[in-house]
Amino acid sequence: MKKLHFKAAVLAAVLSSVAPAVWAEAPDSVYVYLYANTVDHRHGGLHWAWSADGERWVSEFPDQSLVKSDFGAWGSQKMMYSPYTLRGEDGLWHVLWGVNENTPTFAVATSRNLIDWEPQVYPQAGVSGENCIDPQAVYDAGTRSYLVTWETVAEGDTAYVGCMTSDFHNFSAWRTVPGNTRDNRRVHIPQVSPTASGTVCRISRDELRLLQANARATAYTDALYRETYRDDSRLFAGLKPVKARMQASDRKPVAISDKLIGIFFEDISRAADGGLYAELLQNRDFEYNPHDLKGRKPEWNASYAWSTDGSSVSFAIDSVAPIHPNNPHYATLTSTASSDGALVNSGLDGIPVSKGARYDFSAFVRAPKGKLPLKVELVDKSGSVIASAKINASAKNWKKQSAVLTPDASVADARLRIVPTAPGVVQLDMVSLFPRDTFHGRRNGLRRDLADTIAALNPRFVRFPGGCVTHGDGLGNIYNWKNTIGPLEARKPMRNIWGYHQSMGLGYHEYFEFCEDLGAEPLPVIAAGVPCQNSSDGGHGQQGGVPMEDMPAYIQDILDLVEYANGSTDTRWGKERARNGHPAPFNLKYLGIGNEDLISDIFEERFTMIYNAVKEKYPDITVVGTAGPFHSGSDYDAGWRIAAELGVPVVDEHYYEAPAWFIYNNSYYDGYDRNRGKVYLGEYASRGNELFNALAEAAYLCGIERNADVVEMTSYAPMLAREGKTNWNPDLIYFTGTEVHPTVNYHVQKLFGNNMGSTWLPFEVALEGNANPKVAARIKGSASTAADGSRIVKLVNILPVEVSMELPDGFSGDATVTTLAGEPSARQLSPTVSRKTISGAVTLAPYSFTVIRL
Ligand code: AHR
Repeated sequence: MKKLHFKAAVLAAVLSSVAPAVWAEAPDSVYVYLYANTVDHRHGGLHWAWSADGERWVSEFPDQSLVKSDFGAWGSQKMMYSPYTLRGEDGLWHVLWGVNENTPTFAVATSRNLIDWEPQVYPQAGVSGENCIDPQAVYDAGTRSYLVTWETVAEGDTAYVGCMTSDFHNFSAWRTVPGNTRDNRRVHIPQVSPTASGTVCRISRDELRLLQANARATAYTDALYRETYRDDSRLFAGLKPVKARMQASDRKPVAISDKLIGIFFEDISRAADGGLYAELLQNRDFEYNPHDLKGRKPEWNASYAWSTDGSSVSFAIDSVAPIHPNNPHYATLTSTASSDGALVNSGLDGIPVSKGARYDFSAFVRAPKGKLPLKVELVDKSGSVIASAKINASAKNWKKQSAVLTPDASVADARLRIVPTAPGVVQLDMVSLFPRDTFHGRRNGLRRDLADTIAALNPRFVRFPGGCVTHGDGLGNIYNWKNTIGPLEARKPMRNIWGYHQSMGLGYHEYFEFCEDLGAEPLPVIAAGVPCQNSSDGGHGQQGGVPMEDMPAYIQDILDLVEYANGSTDTRWGKERARNGHPAPFNLKYLGIGNEDLISDIFEERFTMIYNAVKEKYPDITVVGTAGPFHSGSDYDAGWRIAAELGVPVVDEHYYEAPAWFIYNNSYYDGYDRNRGKVYLGEYASRGNELFNALAEAAYLCGIERNADVVEMTSYAPMLAREGKTNWNPDLIYFTGTEVHPTVNYHVQKLFGNNMGSTWLPFEVALEGNANPKVAARIKGSASTAADGSRIVKLVNILPVEVSMELPDGFSGDATVTTLAGEPSARQLSPTVSRKTISGAVTLAPYSFTVIRL
């Protein structure tokens, strides 16, 4: 489409403006240019500049955007092509834009003030292979609706297509329209940005002032949230030790939920396969697939991590007669001599084994051409055998064979060799090496050192299996709990959204058992019938939801999960649970529906169906809804609106922010509406693993204890990450094959988890003679009583100077004092614990978190 130069364009824009006269003619109005540009690769969204005369433009905040495109995957997508903005008859602003050049979809965002936006809408605007360029909308007074038109360009030919809408949510079927139904409001104003295009509208001066005020506030808080301890020498130059006290406030005591501190578990950064799940071999099922990594690494295939030693053996991947259709690939190993050739598995960064410990080897084997004895051995780097056993492949059908390996040396990076002892052919699948020493001694269990570290947090609930793993990358990748239970060889492995392979060896049954072993409530999260909004697999993020005709079956699966967890052994799924070794119910109380989804119409429709079905069949289950990925904005508002309309009892909020955000938003929940659902802060972290981050989180948790009547549950995220294989940073606990490295953030979680009060007491920090709000923001505290009668004070000092803190009456006597203190940049610290007699006041070290338990 031809872009006009500004002078003519503004005239055209104003003349053809679809805005009602009241705005177009307002005497105190100004022009506003709403544009997107290419310098930020179209990721920057809708920017704005204003002009009193249409000649000279003022770009006060060119780096800020009013709204960004949320269409498609992170990175390559989420672009805004030539936005077209109009003010509708109802006074609402609507922006239409193209999302890319190869998808038959456009985007619409609606706002009442150009600041607060409703969730975006992505109407289907053609068929696969078509595209949707320069969408625009013109009001038709006759039908009191808008004609939305766009160009579709295929093989050099341009056609114009259009449809009608009255609300920018529901659109009629599209049809070809004449080109002259389109106006020419799109303009390019080089003075504002040489690469931009957009539209010019009119706004009143009051509206301009609102935009300016909002932009100034954003600029101010952005700068505030960039503060770190590196600014402290400037911010607190000359600051003397501070005197403070825990002063009685006019609030009421608050009952603290006994579920306040829990954990978020997701198989991200190898948290499950290669992490908590104790399997030591890699690709035991021969199901790695190049698509796990979207083809980026062709060698990531069914034979990954497997190789042969010696020229007398070769192996190939087959799929002719698998053990189970869910697990279609297996290895065929051919040996031509009785020499020492072997099929070798290298584990993940090698196989760590300990001298004298027992390891269960097992494999499904088949000998299609007759009996073939096999040796199974662990070897160290030099090839020396450190453990050995024998198994037989004799059956023509798949048969599970087992042996125990007991290494005579500890080795961090052993390899497993399967050695045919004669010429012949053997087929193998589900080749496994499992330490006998697992958490709570469970077979197919969890890595003990990692699980012990998690257990030490004393988590009161476990959210699983994610995160984004739950809703998946595209419809085909939504996590299905039914594929993760029962015999390992019949489970259905799947591509992990984080770019690897999920064996599903750690599946729903194991998650429930883990909760039982921890004494924590299970909180499974099920996709709300929509995949991740950032999906890129098989579409562009907004791929729609589960088709309506499939929703009944989808909902039935969710109801079946509750039956699996809680049903008697007479029920279909209760029986299945018993068959899997757990006749007693798991006593499920919570069920999460949705993971920080884009709260679109598609989401709302499906969430509502699922919520109503669960409530009807299982009214005692507490459903946890979702309010998008941020602490504010369109998904957050819409998520809470839906929750309020449906009466959802708990809503899952997520936010990852800078430490200063947590410091300056300590009162985030103080003003929450106490009449709506409770909050589950399901994912949060302050973007770092330095003590400064951990203290910011500790201070925030003090604010959460104060608001425990609103916030019922919290979980830091993500929890686990294998060093060298991280998809996400920061995490709470890092690990290697042999070591566990808890972070300073972990120690804060652990101190809260192990020092939960049951009643928050109304005392708040007051400073003596220091009115600097930045100083006040860095000192936080929380006092409570616990069910066992003890009194607990948590005190956080994020200042470079000591704080002398006077404690309330009743907080004197013998106490256990635990302190986490150090340089704000420290990453490796452990708390110190001492017994002390407290009388009246305590001194808080610079950059410290102190828990006093009396
Ligand atoms: O915690 C890591 C990821 O962050 C989760 O998978 C997702 O829910 C969020 O975006």
